[in-house]
Amino acid sequence: MPGLTRVAGAALPHDSALTHCTGDARFIDDIAEPPGTLHAALVLSEVAHARLLGLDMTATRGMAGVVAVLGPGDLPGENNVSPAHKPGEPLFAATEILHWGQALALVVATTRDAAIAGAKAVRATVEPLAPVLSIEAALARGDLLMEPMVLRDGDVEAALAAAPHRLEGAFRCGGQEHFYLEGQICLAVPGEDGDLLLHASTQHPTEVQHIAARVLGCDCNRVTVQVRRMGGAFGGKESNASWVAAAAALAARHTGRPVKLRLSRRVDMAVTGKRHPFLFRWQAGFDATGCILALDALLAADGGHVLDLSPGVIFRAVTHALNALAVPAVRIDGRVLRTNTVSNTAFRGFGGPQGVLLSEDVVRQVAGALGMTPEAVRARNFAGGGNGATTPYGQALDGALIRRVWSEAEALSGWAERRAAAERFNASHPWKRRGLGSFVLAFGISFGVQSMNQAGALVHVYADGSIRLNHGGTEMGQGLFVKVAQVVAEVFGVPLSRVRITATSTAEVPNTSPTAASTGSDLNGWAAHHAAAAIRDRMAQAAATHWGVDASEVAFAEGEARAGNHRLEFGELAAFCHRQRVSLSTTGFYRTPGLHWDPVALRGEPFFYFSYGASIAEVEVDTLTGEHRCTGAWLVQDCGRSLNPAVDLGQIEGAFVQGMGWLTCEELWWDAAGQLRTLGPSTYKIPGSRDVPEVFEVRLLADAPARAETIFRSKAVGEPPLMLATAVWNALADAVGTVTLDMPVTPERLLLAWGERDGIGEQRV
Ligand code: MTE
Ligand code: HPA
Ligand code: MOS
Repeated sequence: MPGLTRVAGAALPHDSALTHCTGDARFIDDIAEPPGTLHAALVLSEVAHARLLGLDMTATRGMAGVVAVLGPGDLPGENNVSPAHKPGEPLFAATEILHWGQALALVVATTRDAAIAGAKAVRATVEPLAPVLSIEAALARGDLLMEPMVLRDGDVEAALAAAPHRLEGAFRCGGQEHFYLEGQICLAVPGEDGDLLLHASTQHPTEVQHIAARVLGCDCNRVTVQVRRMGGAFGGKESNASWVAAAAALAARHTGRPVKLRLSRRVDMAVTGKRHPFLFRWQAGFDATGCILALDALLAADGGHVLDLSPGVIFRAVTHALNALAVPAVRIDGRVLRTNTVSNTAFRGFGGPQGVLLSEDVVRQVAGALGMTPEAVRARNFAGGGNGATTPYGQALDGALIRRVWSEAEALSGWAERRAAAERFNASHPWKRRGLGSFVLAFGISFGVQSMNQAGALVHVYADGSIRLNHGGTEMGQGLFVKVAQVVAEVFGVPLSRVRITATSTAEVPNTSPTAASTGSDLNGWAAHHAAAAIRDRMAQAAATHWGVDASEVAFAEGEARAGNHRLEFGELAAFCHRQRVSLSTTGFYRTPGLHWDPVALRGEPFFYFSYGASIAEVEVDTLTGEHRCTGAWLVQDCGRSLNPAVDLGQIEGAFVQGMGWLTCEELWWDAAGQLRTLGPSTYKIPGSRDVPEVFEVRLLADAPARAETIFRSKAVGEPPLMLATAVWNALADAVGTVTLDMPVTPERLLLAWGERDGIGEQRV
């Protein structure tokens, strides 16, 4: 019976699907401004590295509409917006400017235009210093933001020395701008007696609360952070939203009036962190069968000017560098370099997408050296084969599932026929080339920081039987709210329409983790389940007592409570419970079980489970211009027993295209002085609708085994499919017949690679 009416697992639309389209869904800039609202604008540095000798604000102060100019000396609390608290990261540069576009001060005015004009009129007196602008330069200086994270397993030197064959390689990938449609924004509204309400576009309301309180020097209980939805975040609002909101909070506290700080696209791109660019250097030992015996690699990440979330990002890169492969002897040396650029941050995959590139480059090179296909070399080294199934940090992978997702993707694409068709195409076209590439993923699900793997929820059932749901997760378009609502509806056996989704608020559920690491529905789904189940059990007890049956006989389905011949509509039972003085409200809490990690030895089981996926991509390259497009993509993603296959499908498609953008067309470009020159869509190319693969077939793995105690046996989906786009990189390398290909593979870079292959690289440059 429950199988017939299941809400959890149904392909239901996103709760805001319609209002997103009609424009009725409210984002922060749509909230009616309270009377007297002021607007703020950031003063940004115009140099990449300098001693800051002073700020001249006199012109600004005299300008029409300007109400206040706030610099580092005007903070009642600490000038520190670091997510980890230590080492500090200034809200406004105090003595040294560390990147072009760094925030120096805030101008508050009666209109946004006046604030922006005022900000432009602030003059900084600086003594320029030489900026460090590349990973290589920072490596040469030994300028690290943190101790290297070195994962070791086996004796890599001995294994390299003993290996029948050895190869080395080096390559790089670029950063990525989040390009959320709604930029960073906060509306700060002061209440009475020092209270402050922050409407923030953040993945991490609790951190906004903490950092605002730290900057203001007040207790957390004075600051309430609320967020109904974000217009996209992608990791860009995990830590960056906090300092934007803290700046708005500061202005509201200083002026006593509501203040809105909304960054323009240009300012947003200049000042906020992005995905970390990486430089990879490696040495591998292997045998004639393609078995990789040893891998010694450097993963050098550009952290930008401060630490931010880089420790977590490098952790994920290092733990994902072998991905679904097993290699008996490895050393993965992860380093975060300090450069004079924006401070790089979380971005969908959180270092995982960079990490998984390593073994793909190795696989391609080994294949090239042995005359094998990359597919054969990769499969030769899948975890669960001769080299064992354990990651270098000691957690077991599911070798059978790795093979299964791969063989299903292969079948879905009709691999052999596609390969033959590509060869026919290439033989008959003088300047166009088709290529095929593939990829297999094992992505660990859980926050690397163990304490973050917790969540809370608050559920009320009103006396009319309608349900109000609140939890610590945030909605950024990924469909978390509808999924958690489905869980609650399922527990109560009511239609989804009875569950009211409400805005995330630090006043309703405290001490939350960010919605990140793809764990939103895993964590909040369970927390809400616990709350709902507790209320349902009380209702069952009340009904059982009334009917003279055992509580275990009371079932909730199809909008009713039932036991034998007894039936009560859910709303009637709620009203009955209220009259019986049964509490119909409770909190729920969940923490992921079984995680452990030794941060010194780098050993343990940091992930609750792995998300598996496989992909195949076909590309077509114009060798005269370097232009290319993805003509086909075939993806198989393990979502366990999906909570909502419609939402998951959208996540997979979107993530793949976003990953493709990162690898092929999105290029951040800093000039020699350290000024970012790609500050909007005219110079920074994100994928458009026409870049979506012409043939795009996505399958959720059918009958996915569900081995972990996840919510209704579902699996996380938010980030993993981004990495499936790695197949496009492999396909481009296949098309041009090269083994090394730096990313992003823009048309220029592809043309150069093509030229190098033909020995005409010099002329092409
Ligand atoms: N999907 C949309 N539409 N917008 C987003 O900002 N962020 C991604 C992913 N999918 C994002 C998205 C990132 S980086 C993460 S970690 C997850 O959603 C977070 O949500 P979840 O844990 O609920 O999957
Ligand atoms: N992913 C995203 N954000 C995080 C993580 C993670 O693994 N760890 C800490 N913050
Ligand atoms: Mo996602 S990068 O974990 O916000």
